[in-house]
Amino acid sequence: MHEVRVAPSILAADFSRLGSQVAEVMEAGARVIHVDVMDGHFVPPISIGALIVDALRELVHGRGGVLDVHLMVERPERRVEDFAAAGADSIAVHWEATPHVNYALKAVRDVGLAAGLAINPATPLEVVSGVAGDLDHVLCMTVNPGWGGQPYIESSTAKVARLRELLGPGVPIEVDGGIEAETAGATAAAGATLFVAGSSIFGAPDPAAAYREIAVAAGAV
Ligand code: DX5
Ligand code: ZN
Repeated sequence: MHEVRVAPSILAADFSRLGSQVAEVMEAGARVIHVDVMDGHFVPPISIGALIVDALRELVHGRGGVLDVHLMVERPERRVEDFAAAGADSIAVHWEATPHVNYALKAVRDVGLAAGLAINPATPLEVVSGVAGDLDHVLCMTVNPGWGGQPYIESSTAKVARLRELLGPGVPIEVDGGIEAETAGATAAAGATLFVAGSSIFGAPDPAAAYREIAVAAGAV
């Protein structure tokens, strides 16, 4: 999580051939695979759960990768153990999804995983300071959570820059939503280090080539 990386989001993958889609982007160099979990409450859609993490763990870990779980669920602290047992390596919880986000972050660290704090576009970045000691990375939403394929919210670039100022240099900043080559470049310049990309990779005719193009734009390894 501390390297500059592009993280393909499987939300945009073809689930009828999920394994080969993940293998394809890992072959192209991806090592962080982003898994979007939606509960139909915190966000309207229901997406996927711990079963899919478990189904991918061997493939991803066997190729030296990590599973980066993004919980868009209410009371995420109640789900941490399931995802840890399924093979997650990092779990991001939303500040907006629980009254005590510090408990949720602690629950993630207690099971030995990297704890991410996710914030929605409308959430002031200052909320991060209250839990800065309890988190390993910040996931800055650059669209409103719930769907892939939405356009990048332009004001996010300035938010990422202010977030970088607030956090200092050591804490990874993950950007999520509407990331393609151009927005990856802009957010990289603002201080982002982890770039979630769903439809721009899996919606492209050649996902491996799309991955490589975004990785170059982001300055990723
Ligand atoms: C949105 C999810 C994203 C989504 C991004 O709620 O958190 O991770 O997969 O999709 P794109 O890259 O298509 O905007
Ligand atoms: Zn996500």
